[in-house]
Amino acid sequence: MNLEIDGPTATIYLNRPDKKNAMNPQMHRDMNEALDAIEADRGVKVVVVTGNGDSFSAGMDLEECFLRPFEDPMEFYRTNEVALNWFKRLKAFPAVTVAKVNGFSFGGGVLLAGICDLAVASETALFGLSEINFGIFPAGGATWAAAHNLPRKQALYYILTGATFTGREAEAYGLVNKAVPLDELDAATDRIVRKLVNKNPVTLSLAKHVYEHNRATDLPAAIDYDQAKLWELSRLTGNEWVNVALKQFEKRSYQPGLSTYDRVEAKS
Ligand code: ACO
Repeated sequence: MNLEIDGPTATIYLNRPDKKNAMNPQMHRDMNEALDAIEADRGVKVVVVTGNGDSFSAGMDLEECFLRPFEDPMEFYRTNEVALNWFKRLKAFPAVTVAKVNGFSFGGGVLLAGICDLAVASETALFGLSEINFGIFPAGGATWAAAHNLPRKQALYYILTGATFTGREAEAYGLVNKAVPLDELDAATDRIVRKLVNKNPVTLSLAKHVYEHNRATDLPAAIDYDQAKLWELSRLTGNEWVNVALKQFEKRSYQPGLSTYDRVEAKS
């Protein structure tokens, strides 16, 4: 079992601890199935991705995904397509995704931490874009993840040298939101999850979508997009922000600068 759903929170476990959670074809199929199951459960607002055992993920399984299928081009293509599919799905997932990086995170592991919306790591987690060490560049989205999560000089340094960096360094670069001692990793992740699950799921989903869209546009286009999406949000949420959140503010029942409105009063 690689998936647990507990109300608004789903946790996906990379589950090959004896192989440092290297992602083999079976794991890629399991991940697609886990995402299917989460999408089918409409109550999930937050997806935590973590590793069983002492690793987050040692990346793609170098033997099962690359070495063995390489001689048969179609087998190689199909094997890796399953992986690339769930990477793309996870990046665009409607629920908020949080990587909980508990140990080794190489290649595809860096990619996973990078494509999740948020990430928490143990201070001693070890990251690396090790591809250069076996003669390729980080492919399958890993260079994208480095370019979008690390400052340029650091991204190029790690891409070109294959050197490792710790969870504490990952926090300084911005690849993870927070690095904490390993024994505090669960609690630190839970604190973030708790801040998310009391928000409107449609708003969470649109907030991350608008962020990604607006990174790639100029300000006038971003403003137009914001306004259109705000009307979409209003319709999809039954105007919850005005009818519930701002009505509660009018009664001074909370301070939006410091906390969230009470969603129990909301219908959606
Ligand atoms: N693919 C296949 N098997 C792997 C992988 C991998 N990516 N990573 C670890 N394993 C296997 C090991 O071969 C070993 O298998 P065995 O028990 O059958 O010998 C087992 O997992 C345990 O690994 P060890 O190397 O014994 O563990 P150790 O703690 O000493 O080292 C480390 C861990 C540093 C992660 C090391 O295994 C390693 O360098 N792995 C490869 C990391 C890597 O380069 N990943 C690919 C990134 S590129 C990409 O994702 C596209």
